[in-house]
Amino acid sequence: MTRAVPDIVIQEVALRDGLQIEPQWVETDDKVDLVDALAAAGLRRIEVSSFVSPKVVPSLWDADVVFKRIQRRPGTVYSALVPNLKGLASALRARVDEVNFVMSASETHNRANVNMSHERSLAALAEIVASARPAGIKVNATIATAFGCPFEGAQPLEKVLKIAGRYLSFGVDGITLADTTGMANPRQVSALLADVLSLTSRDRLTLHFHNTRGLGLVNVLAAYDTGARRFDTALGGLGGCPFAPGATGNVCTEDLVNLFHEIGLSTGLDLQALIALSRRLPDLVGHDVPGQVAKAGRAQDLHPIPTALQNSG
Ligand code: COA
Ligand code: ZN
Repeated sequence: MTRAVPDIVIQEVALRDGLQIEPQWVETDDKVDLVDALAAAGLRRIEVSSFVSPKVVPSLWDADVVFKRIQRRPGTVYSALVPNLKGLASALRARVDEVNFVMSASETHNRANVNMSHERSLAALAEIVASARPAGIKVNATIATAFGCPFEGAQPLEKVLKIAGRYLSFGVDGITLADTTGMANPRQVSALLADVLSLTSRDRLTLHFHNTRGLGLVNVLAAYDTGARRFDTALGGLGGCPFAPGATGNVCTEDLVNLFHEIGLSTGLDLQALIALSRRLPDLVGHDVPGQVAKAGRAQDLHPIPTALQNSG
């Protein structure tokens, strides 16, 4: 009997979304070790870093060195975020497998994040696709603040659909809907997703939730029930956009893996290995991390019965 390949795809983003907001410098070799260990734990998609201005995101200035030192496993996709053609050029030199372009649904957040209008960002995406394709590099395009913006508030569904349509018209390989500051709720997720899934297939669509208001996992489950199968998560629940007030962590990788396994869905990931890795994060980043399963252990990891109860009949 062959084991079915899980249709759930989890992309690990702690190295990018997680570290971009961390004030404490994480050594390049520690980043490399973490990428390699995540791949060994079964992750087949890892967002390794960003090719952005080092003045703006100093914690990821070593992206090219990290890419040079990681041990690439066949079948694992190592990607990086790029906002413009300069970022793509660096990503090509670093031999990334895929780039992740980002533009926010909200013009205000887009200016805060990448200092560009929609028009300029879309022109950059067109250039990125045109240069990446001949190099054999895939392009994923993220719609940040798709479920709400910390400056503008709710984003009309039609606006998000229009951006998704524009992305697809450029020939992107995938789209990510990102809830940058955890403003989504499950009903909204289902409604938006149902419409986006009429534009593109579920194997080209990723959901990227932040747990800012504690709704991360319920949003993932709503998305799963509506047909989504690809999710971004960060080990330990690290994460956050430095240019969004009040940003906090992504949905936590090991917490989501635990949820899927508990409800009988396979992820192909080694939960125990992920928990062990997550427990190393506080030393790396210098503070406690939000993930819960790494603190509690798996539900099946039972504790010894207290001695006082052992002989009580
Ligand atoms: N990688 C590295 N450096 C870059 C770059 C890139 N992709 N794009 C531009 N730069 C450099 C320029 O060379 C220039 O350098 P200099 O000051 O030494 O001459 C400087 O950055 C300013 O370039 P400019 O084109 O005027 O950019 P900007 O100041 O308008 O900033 C971005 C635009 C996109 C580069 C910047 O806002 C950015 O890096 N944002 C990333 C935000 C992010 O990662 N957010 C979290 C993810 S959601
Ligand atoms: Zn994010």
